[in-house]
Amino acid sequence: MSVKVALKPLNLRLTEMALFATMERQKSEEFRLRSFRLRGERMTKAQSGAIDEHLAQFQIPLDRPIDLVKIFPKDKYKEIVCEIGSGMGEASSQIAYENPESGYLAVEVHKPGIGALLIRANNLGVKNLRVINEDIYLVLNENITDSSFDAFHIFFPDPWPKRRQHKRRLLSSEFIETLATKLKPGGRINIATDWQPYAKEIESNFSASKSFSGGVIERPIWRPLTKFENKGLGKEHLVTDLQYSKN
Ligand SMILES: C[S@@+](CC[C@H](N)C(=O)[O-])C[C@H]1O[C@@H](n2cnc3c(N)ncnc32)[C@H](O)[C@@H]1O
Repeated sequence: MSVKVALKPLNLRLTEMALFATMERQKSEEFRLRSFRLRGERMTKAQSGAIDEHLAQFQIPLDRPIDLVKIFPKDKYKEIVCEIGSGMGEASSQIAYENPESGYLAVEVHKPGIGALLIRANNLGVKNLRVINEDIYLVLNENITDSSFDAFHIFFPDPWPKRRQHKRRLLSSEFIETLATKLKPGGRINIATDWQPYAKEIESNFSASKSFSGGVIERPIWRPLTKFENKGLGKEHLVTDLQYSKN
């Protein structure tokens, strides 16, 4: 009897604590500065057609734990690569097409971009590519177990050029450590940017991290030219490629 009396308030306190933790997490999510601009979800007919027709085949649902090894079995795929911010899917679909022995996951928050990726992936007939239409922060923190990826590709992350927007840049010191946690030992990150001040900030954030070694590299021949990069080149922007390996 006395045990029951003692347990009841404790249970109640635990429930309250769990509720409080959830509320705190939701609050910090609400106030987290997004690394993307919330654009409209307006799609072309072809993009919405591709979503209707192919999303189910390519999408990884987030309502259950993601088992990447089940999706990309070790006997079939030599590595698993995640592209963050795949945009219109030009790089992910092309790289996946050219490397059928590796598994690719493209994460993009902008739904029309996912539609565009599905059109390309379907036209190329790629079987080794999956997509997630969500914010990468949430995906990595809530759905992906540690040491999951062999590589990350981050091509032309939004540069957020204005000083007051710098906090929105994806490749912050904190996010770099999240990437380290989700990479397997020796895993790589390939980055490209056409915004020189951002390239400098990326270099400085990685040099301050004990988790990585690397720096500026020649443009890798395997990195396809995207429309976004081409636009930058048209404005005479200099493109910097960087590569880091997990220590
Ligand atoms: C400048 S575009 C570059 C797109 C593509 N990588 C390319 O080279 O053409 C950056 C992309 O990153 C996406 N993005 C930014 N922050 C993101 C996040 N937190 N999660 C998922 N995607 C994100 C944006 O929606 C946008 O499509």
